[in-house]
Amino acid sequence: MRTVTVNGRAETLPDDPEALLVDVVRDNLGLTGTKLACGAGVCGACTVLLDGFPIASCLLPANSVAGKTITTVEGVAAGRLHPVQKAFMTLDALQCGFCTPGFIVEAVAFYDKYRKTNGAVTPTREEIGSALSGHLCRCGAYENILLAVAAACSGRFDGDDDETVSPR
Ligand code: FES
Ligand code: FES
Repeated sequence: MRTVTVNGRAETLPDDPEALLVDVVRDNLGLTGTKLACGAGVCGACTVLLDGFPIASCLLPANSVAGKTITTVEGVAAGRLHPVQKAFMTLDALQCGFCTPGFIVEAVAFYDKYRKTNGAVTPTREEIGSALSGHLCRCGAYENILLAVAAACSGRFDGDDDETVSPR
């Protein structure tokens, strides 16, 4: 029996060698925050973290992640909202929200890596754009998405004070 750790819990993987990770996450585990859109690895909606690195779960056979750690958007918060999530909410970095989980997961990976190297410093627009280049937003909410990631990295949402977060 093959298992994978998803958001801190050990889960059993299906025997079907053709089962895709996105389907296991959404259908078997009920973690529907991860979205399936293009199914071809070009839109980023299905992004999850595999041992901390963002990957497109729509292209990955589920059995290939046996013994590894997966974090979905549901696992990003770990008890309290991540600064990236607070920034997206406060700065209205979405319209329909379908692309948002993928952007959040990718932006969290960028935030963690960036902050470890640079501290609470605002990244350039080019740095953020490059990190998020594998994601498409059909609503065109890019401007506020870039602003939100910049604000999160700057440290503006590091504190426990959630008052700036809108009810959205
Ligand atoms: Fe996986 Fe679009 S659904 S990249
Ligand atoms: Fe609608 Fe991005 S907010 S697709």
